[in-house]
Amino acid sequence: MSAKYDIANPGAAELFESLRAFGYDLPTALADIVDNSIAAKARNVWIDLIWAGQESRITIRDDGEGMSEKELVQAMRPGSMSPLAHRSSSDLGRFGLGMKTASISHCRCLTVLSRSAPTSVAVRRWDLDYIASTETGEWRLLKGPDLVSEGDLGLLPKQASGTVLFWDRLDQLVGTVSADDETAQKHFRERADAVKQHLAMVFHRFLTGRNAISIHLNGRKIEPWDPFMEDIDAVDPLPAETLTADGAQIEIKAFILPHHSKISSERHALGAGPKGWNAHQGFYIYRNRRLLVAGDWLGLGMQKEEHFKLARIRIDLPNSADLSWQIDVKKSRARPPAKLRKDLQRIARVARGQASRIYRHRGKILQRQHGDKQSFLWTHLTRHGKTFYKINREHPLVRRVLEDSVDRDASRALLNLIEQTVPAPLIVINNAESPDGFGLPFEGASGELRKAMEAVYSALRQEGNEPASAARALMGMEPFNQYPELIAGFLDEITSAMAARDIEKRGFE
Ligand SMILES: Nc1ncnc2c1ncn2[C@@H]1O[C@H](COP(=O)(O)OP(=O)(O)OP(=O)(O)O)[C@@H](O)[C@H]1O
Ligand SMILES: [Mg+2]
Repeated sequence: MSAKYDIANPGAAELFESLRAFGYDLPTALADIVDNSIAAKARNVWIDLIWAGQESRITIRDDGEGMSEKELVQAMRPGSMSPLAHRSSSDLGRFGLGMKTASISHCRCLTVLSRSAPTSVAVRRWDLDYIASTETGEWRLLKGPDLVSEGDLGLLPKQASGTVLFWDRLDQLVGTVSADDETAQKHFRERADAVKQHLAMVFHRFLTGRNAISIHLNGRKIEPWDPFMEDIDAVDPLPAETLTADGAQIEIKAFILPHHSKISSERHALGAGPKGWNAHQGFYIYRNRRLLVAGDWLGLGMQKEEHFKLARIRIDLPNSADLSWQIDVKKSRARPPAKLRKDLQRIARVARGQASRIYRHRGKILQRQHGDKQSFLWTHLTRHGKTFYKINREHPLVRRVLEDSVDRDASRALLNLIEQTVPAPLIVINNAESPDGFGLPFEGASGELRKAMEAVYSALRQEGNEPASAARALMGMEPFNQYPELIAGFLDEITSAMAARDIEKRGFE
């Protein structure tokens, strides 16, 4: 009697070639490998990108729990565990695929060496060229001590347990170039930089705090990149919320980052992230504290726009939410379940509103409301629904110039002309294109700032203000109020000059 079924095993060579097309880039592939190390309780992960032309190699080593020979063989199987199986709440895996798909999308030969007890070292290899050459379609997982050299074995040094992956024949990254090909080598090095930035971001919550782990890239420890700049006081977090969908609880917290004038330019540049300020706005989705999505409005009908770039919203998912959030194998996508859309839209709207207020007003509006009518040079006027910018005639320096002028009509005409021809449309366009491209008042021109300060001070004094009240007025005035130390220094000088004059005067008496 014939069997009721055919065995329809996929051909190993063919399926492996197809599995290579998952679309991992190098940073995402390595993040998937680091996931496994973290799940195996590693304290350290060492990644090395070793340049040697077509012999180039990538190794990923950890000091985690390692695998026994039996476990390793199981782990090497594509689909080593069902996505439906229960996982411990700290497991970063889901599909039983990552180690294989991430590796072979970059190399044609994956060797894994692992030790779970001091005595035993297990080694297995998927060699895509070997499998293709057998033409049997069999899934031949190579074994035997001769797969690794003494040098390779030395990579699992005195540690009690741990795992090393070797990626050889890096056809995607390197191909068949010679070791002295400078362009290829430069490309290789640049990829290392992208890896560093990506891992610093994806694992930032594992890289800080009491139980921090270390990831070393080519011998250098990777520093975390926190998208929410939580170490800065000027960051304004909105209250956290807990939402529940399909039995899984998720935590959401929105952060409004500071306007660039409130932080140093280095800090601002650092805050931008690998893809820049605009790209990194939106929701950040974490699964077991591991970042999956780094800034996206999640198809909620909202676009990324320059003036929302200060809004970054953190979502924390447990791994029990994988199915309802449609997590993918590469751990680079997540889609919210339909029933959470309304809540997420509401949270996003509030955060976007706050962010755009900070972006537009640059935090100065409040200062303006509190300042008296002398303290700013430009005023903003609306007439018949149209906006005008006028030079404040009450400003002490303007008053002085107008009064002292030999030709007052010409001076007034000049002020009018300046007001009427403010290139507002051009400023608006430039600001939209590169909002951080504007210099701050007197940036890099401290000599001129000082002269302006002296001129305003002397105008205030000439109007009969006492030194103390002139000093106070100066401190509240734009743009001097942004340079409190400079004003303090200037006033110190004046005070000591006056004291010296007093002494001189007394000497004559
Ligand atoms: N560095 C490691 N240390 C210890 N065990 C490991 C290590 N890497 C992989 N494993 C074991 O191999 C198994 C298969 O890993 P793989 O990444 O292919 O799938 P996964 O992590 O289970 O799921 P996913 O496809 O979502 O990553 C893991 O479940 C784990 O048991
Ligand atoms: Mg995995």
